[in-house]
Amino acid sequence: MPLSRSSESELGWVAPEQIADFAATGTTLHRLFSGPGGWVERQGRDLLISWNSPETLRSLLAEIEIRRRELPLPIDRVFLRKRWERETSPKLLLLSGNPTLPMATTAKENGLSFRIRFDTGESTGFFLDQRANRSFLRARRPTRLLNLFAYTCSFGVAAASAGAQTWNVDLSPRTLEWGKENYRLNALDPRDHWFLARDARDALPYLLRRKLRFDAFVIDPPTFAHGRGGKDFSLPRDLGSLIEGLLPLCEPNALLLLSTNYQPWRSADLFREAVRACSRAGVNVEPLPPLPRPVDLPEGTGPATLWLRIKP
Ligand SMILES: C[S@@+](CC[C@H](N)C(=O)[O-])C[C@H]1O[C@@H](n2cnc3c(N)ncnc32)[C@H](O)[C@@H]1O
Repeated sequence: MPLSRSSESELGWVAPEQIADFAATGTTLHRLFSGPGGWVERQGRDLLISWNSPETLRSLLAEIEIRRRELPLPIDRVFLRKRWERETSPKLLLLSGNPTLPMATTAKENGLSFRIRFDTGESTGFFLDQRANRSFLRARRPTRLLNLFAYTCSFGVAAASAGAQTWNVDLSPRTLEWGKENYRLNALDPRDHWFLARDARDALPYLLRRKLRFDAFVIDPPTFAHGRGGKDFSLPRDLGSLIEGLLPLCEPNALLLLSTNYQPWRSADLFREAVRACSRAGVNVEPLPPLPRPVDLPEGTGPATLWLRIKP
């Protein structure tokens, strides 16, 4: 399998100039390689390989060794996410490096720090394919953000670093604690922000009763998740009512990010759901122009995302 960069497909290794650009913006969280067999991410001083098949792994590892010698990257360890055994082996495997190094580390995106953990399952706590959206949100300097399905609160940190008050909602108290740690890593006091461990659908009436209003929203849900008391979440079924539920919480001209990894859906599907939900409520919605694709994410990778403006 060819592992070198192909200009037509943009698969291959990220160029050394691009790595220098990441360094210049204080970013150590980015992809290094994308190919048909999987991809390699730099997560601080470690590499995380997400690979589809054991057969082609050996040639990738040989290529990584060559690149590590060529590129001035300080890399301590290489971890593997076996995508061919996802059901049976959700843990990351340490392929090389010192096994006594801490499994919790810190890595950076645009100067912001995030706690990365290699021992909590197949996710390390950070989705680097949302970099452009976090950056856009931060540049907009919102006053109040409602971050639904917050996970480790990376969107909350991005908005709070630009002065926003932030509300992070997630079913998992454990990931919200992780989120608070991310705030502290950036000298943001979590006591000045809100972390609600509850179902995103239940958070909306709760916030409405408290007469809160927001000028920015993030909805980045899983495709499907088990909820409390058998209340499952299904993106194709529930996204529309979730959007409808947040409309009474909107300041005029509020920004809304919709994002999904649900494979059949593209941004047009997200827009359709938003238009339906808004028209049921008699509210206008306008799509914002798509953000430029990051240099380390080839066409067709990453979630489908869409920024919208909710009109009064
Ligand atoms: C795809 S992750 C979100 C990623 C996050 N936006 C980020 O950029 O890091 C999905 C999150 O949704 C949470 N979740 C699942 N069902 C939920 C529900 N019904 N209400 C609130 N959170 C839920 C999970 O605990 C998980 O943390």
